[in-house]
Order: sequence, then C-alpha cells, then structure tokens
Amino acid sequence: MEIIIQADSQEASQTAARIVARTVREKPHAVLGLATGNTPLRLYRNLVRMHREEGLDFSGVTCFNLDEYVGIPPAHPSSFHSYMWAHLFGHLNVAKERINIPDGLTADIPAACRKYEQAIRSAGGIDVQILGIGTNGHIGFNEPSSSLSSRTRIKTLTEETRLDVAAAFGGEESVPTHVLTMGLGTIMDSRMCLLLAFGKKKARAIAQTVEGPVTAMVPGSVLQMHPRVILVLDKDAASELKMADYYAWVSDHKPAWQKY
Ligand code: PGA
Repeated sequence: MEIIIQADSQEASQTAARIVARTVREKPHAVLGLATGNTPLRLYRNLVRMHREEGLDFSGVTCFNLDEYVGIPPAHPSSFHSYMWAHLFGHLNVAKERINIPDGLTADIPAACRKYEQAIRSAGGIDVQILGIGTNGHIGFNEPSSSLSSRTRIKTLTEETRLDVAAAFGGEESVPTHVLTMGLGTIMDSRMCLLLAFGKKKARAIAQTVEGPVTAMVPGSVLQMHPRVILVLDKDAASELKMADYYAWVSDHKPAWQKY
C-alpha cells in the first residue's frame, strides 16, 4: 500500500486529481470507478477545473459508480445519481451512454447486479477505483461482515452508516435500509484503488485498514491484498497510524519518476 499523508484535504484532493488525470491522459478510454459522499467532492472539483482549464478530455472515459440506495428514484436529491450529475457528470464531457450507476429502482435486483458486473467486464475492467471509507471501515457499501470476495449485490446498511448519512435524508428514519453496491471482489478486480480519507473521524478506520489484520469486520482491510493501492490522507485521518513517520519518509524520498 502506498500511503500519502498531506497537510489537508485540499492538498490531498489535488494529489488524487493528478493521479486520476494521469490515467485519463495516458489512456483516453480509461474506465473509472467512482465514489460518492463528502470525501471525493474536492477531487471532483479539481477534475472539473482540469477539464475546463487544461482541456482534460473525458469523452472516451467510461464510469461505474460503486453504489446506490434501493427504492430511491434517480431524481431524488439524495440519490447518488443526483450527486454525480451535480458534482461531476454535469460539468464534464463524459458520454451519457458510458455512465453507469446501479439502478436502485430495478424490479429484479439479482439480475441487475449480474448485468452491472457484466458491464464492468465488457468495458475492460476498472482502471482506477476511487474510494472513500466509512467510520466502520466499509468501502462502497460493503458493511462489516461482507464477504471479502463479494460481487455487486444488495446489502443492508448498519445503524452506524445510517446515522452517518442521516443529514442528507433529514433524519435517520428516512435513510433507506438497503443499497446496491459493488462487492469487495469487484473492487479488488480494479487495476488501481485510490482511497481518500479526511478528518479525525476516519482515523480509526484508516489505522485498522492499513495496519490491522485483514478481516471482514473491517472491509477496507481487504485492500492489503491488492497489488496497487494508493491512500491519500490528511494529517487527521493519518493520526492513528503507528508508522506514519515511515510513510511520510517514503513519500519524501521517492525518485522523481514515482512522484505525482
Ligand atoms: P464520506 O463517506 O465521504 O461522506 O465520509 C464515505 C463512505 O461512507 O464511504
């Protein structure tokens, strides 16, 4: 795992944007796996700025979102469809037909999940999967106890997660109980995982993900088995890492060709 610790979320988001932009420049038909939530907002703002100011071209890019709430229409203000159009797709030249978000209203959930997996395979697999992490260590909506080799499927949210997202729904009682999410196996098939985490609230989940045992109780820890993971953290999210000084030293002493 490569752990990049930066002063704040602004700097970290710029670094993450450079990593994504490099992939898109090198591979104009790149496949991006996208996350929602508060964490990637600045990263997306940076990508939009690079598109506007530097001509970063997304016309050949295909996107797959990690997850969506079950029973929430795409037009609902708190759907991940709405989030993606408001913060990213509405401002980039991604072709509409290459945007994929799980359908929370599908009548046949198992079939829709199989189709989603098939669509990822047909697109050639995900080049860069952007990830946030839950306070309980979830990635995507793979809650603790998720199978480490799970595929896209329906999951039930934990109370902790429902409380974490309650504000977006005007209270916990209105938060959907179920979601569709890529599985941990789906995420592990990506060529690169780029996980962002900011703030003290994420420090424990990050320490467990990086330095704890690989366990289904901390779903992010499965990334220890992935050959190419970059974590971009602010100081607060890194504050419980025992080897933080070593990770910082590694970053400072990278050869020029390895820098972002
Ligand atoms: P957040 O959510 O970015 O809003 O903190 C992350 C997650 O739950 O995966």
